[in-house]
Amino acid sequence: MTDVQALEGQILNAIAGAADEAALEAVRVSALGKKGAISELLKSLGSMSPDERKANGPLFNTLRDRAVTAIAERKRTLEDAALNARLATEKVDITLPVRPEPTGSIHPVSQAFDELIAIFADLGFAVAEGPDVEYDDYNFTKLNIPPDHPARQMHDTFYVSKQADGSRHVLRTHTSPVQVRTMLNRNPPIRIISPGRTYRVDSDATHSPMFHQFEGLVVDEVTHLGHLKWVLEEFCKAFFEVDKVEMRARPSFFPFTEPSVEWDLRCDRSGGQIKFGTGNDWLELAGSGMVNPRVLENCGIDSAKYQGYAFGGGIDRLAMLKYGIPDIRAFFESDLRWLRAYGFAALDIPTLDGGLSR
Ligand code: FA5
Repeated sequence: MTDVQALEGQILNAIAGAADEAALEAVRVSALGKKGAISELLKSLGSMSPDERKANGPLFNTLRDRAVTAIAERKRTLEDAALNARLATEKVDITLPVRPEPTGSIHPVSQAFDELIAIFADLGFAVAEGPDVEYDDYNFTKLNIPPDHPARQMHDTFYVSKQADGSRHVLRTHTSPVQVRTMLNRNPPIRIISPGRTYRVDSDATHSPMFHQFEGLVVDEVTHLGHLKWVLEEFCKAFFEVDKVEMRARPSFFPFTEPSVEWDLRCDRSGGQIKFGTGNDWLELAGSGMVNPRVLENCGIDSAKYQGYAFGGGIDRLAMLKYGIPDIRAFFESDLRWLRAYGFAALDIPTLDGGLSR
């Protein structure tokens, strides 16, 4: 006759000594499996006399219950220990920098974008955007450049194939169609800046077939060229990080502004470097003017009540000047060595109080 107490001692010891879940499973099979010691005991009840069964049945069943409970507890203990061990090896020290050796950098044109937006946002301008593929109507006609107008030739346009209705879309040649989109969709007062990609059939050291422009538009009941000049001056001081700039106005022509003015910035190019605010050189900065009343009317704005001013210039050119980059094509060659030399730290967001390009 099996010594039930001794067997219980053996099984409980084996359970307690199981080092992992596989060892515990082996103990379970040897005790409670089909041919396990406890299962054999329970089976033997069938061949016992009623009195023996009455005496042994509760003993065997208690033994089985204790073994089942002990196995379940040991299983939980082993699972907890395994989880703790895994957590210990997977521990992350969140006090370490996210990337100890950052490899990416911000492209100088993206940097100039961010700086420009930070400055104009500070002057109260919202950012507006438009698509790269634009209606001919918005790129030209609504801006007072009807079909066959000679000004269209100045833009060296990339045309997209004809639409079913015979009209043609264009790759926008300037950011000025965003003026149209804004005026068609919003009521004055309007005060927006629109930086974005633009396209012209053009390529040399200072011209690229894809380049970037910024557009500014203000429409209100009272606006004048003095406001325009002040805004551009404040922009230049902040962008070039100087206390003083001097601007020169030249009469110009844009079909969408009347009068039209181009602005130059006084600078000194002696000594191989460019300095703003002094010297006898002038640098072309932006085209601008008072919004032509025809453009206001084309966009559903009452030109008897509202006036506006607009300005636009090249962002790549601004970045070339500020960061001393002589050839515009370098921007688009994706040369990693160049990007490492001219790129900006990814986490330095330009702000006016925190510093624009430091
Ligand atoms: C315009 O495109 C007008 N829309 C600007 C404007 C806006 C005038 C609002 C009045 C009111 P323009 O064609 O001069 O103007 O181009 C503006 C600037 O874009 C140029 O001064 C130059 O800096 C830049 N630019 C023009 N073509 C290229 C090119 N192929 N590559 C790089 N920059 C270019």
